[in-house]
Amino acid sequence: MPSLRVPLVDLRAQYLTLKPEFLAAFEDVLDSMHLFLGPRQQEFEQAFAAYSESHYGVGVSNGTDALILALRACEIGPGDEVITVSNTFIATVEAIAAVGATPVFVDVDPETYLMDWRQIESVLTAQTRALLPVHLYGHVAEMQPILDIARAHDLRVIEDASQAHGAMYLGRRVGSLGDIACFSLYFSKNLGAFGEAGICTTNDDALAVRMRMIRDHGSRVRYEHEVMGQNFRMDELQAAVLAIKLPYLERWNAARQEHARYYSEQLRDVVDAVPVVRPWGTHVYCYYVIRVAERAQFQQALLADGIGTSIHYPTPIHMQAACASYGYQPGSLPITERLAADIVSLPMYPELTAEQLQLVVDSVKKHVKSSTSQGLV
Ligand SMILES: Cc1ncc(COP(=O)(O)O)c(C=O)c1O
Repeated sequence: MPSLRVPLVDLRAQYLTLKPEFLAAFEDVLDSMHLFLGPRQQEFEQAFAAYSESHYGVGVSNGTDALILALRACEIGPGDEVITVSNTFIATVEAIAAVGATPVFVDVDPETYLMDWRQIESVLTAQTRALLPVHLYGHVAEMQPILDIARAHDLRVIEDASQAHGAMYLGRRVGSLGDIACFSLYFSKNLGAFGEAGICTTNDDALAVRMRMIRDHGSRVRYEHEVMGQNFRMDELQAAVLAIKLPYLERWNAARQEHARYYSEQLRDVVDAVPVVRPWGTHVYCYYVIRVAERAQFQQALLADGIGTSIHYPTPIHMQAACASYGYQPGSLPITERLAADIVSLPMYPELTAEQLQLVVDSVKKHVKSSTSQGLV
């Protein structure tokens, strides 16, 4: 298939802008043969923590491991329940299952598609140990009521910020709001390695110590294992990439916001919904998600015009076979289920050109079917 005129993401475009820096850093790391827990990782951890307005950054192998590490550091395990959303990537829920705890889902807000905190109290039980909101697509869940509920019921708050590096909530950075925030640094995220990486941020000294220990086989001193740990270490080549990229994140997020502004201006009256940005926070557009009628034909038509699209995500997590044992039936989370039927993500990355944006807008206008007028509530 010929390459698309506007792919969903274009990783090469960003790589090429910084290629000499990456190659020099790789040479340095390889010459040193210090391949993990080295100076690049420390540099990146400190820089990312400072950027995220947190005291500590703990670099790890990927975002899924970041979530598992956070849950383990909070001593959440079998018999415990964690309240989260089904409108997310499976990893959020896999991490809860991986520590032996049970995910409990609440529905999402019909406009932001993020955790609807109003539903939390109705699913609290004596087993509830943590709230795990997801800042999906790059916008921030409404955190203050979530933090208030957690305080009132003595619960931990773990943010899944994998799609929201650099987003703000009431003037504060994502990453500094709950007990621990977890970020995927998967290659296609707003800040991405050339492969797999992740990081946890926290302001809590004890949690930082526990996370550092667990990620490195439960040890602070080599071959002394204080707790059962894992191997969740970040590798030094990825840390080098991330340390080079981090100073550009603000400008890359600003470019995404600029592109999103243009899309929304052009498409607001054309498609069923464009992304909503609530006054409490910013949106960093990891994905630019719209709602359209007759989605499959719409995606096919855009593809024929050379434009890549995707669906984040086509099947809600509570409807996945992997979650059958939790007992959710169709209709349990109506807004999440309705959303999944007509959301579609348009191309979004900082390096999109004006010409590419125009191609997308023209193609959407040409192919979108008149609204289903099916509201979400
Ligand atoms: C919301 C969310 N949570 C968790 C993850 C898991 O991250 P990773 O793929 O780095 O394990 C991702 C990334 O794909 C994600 O988008």
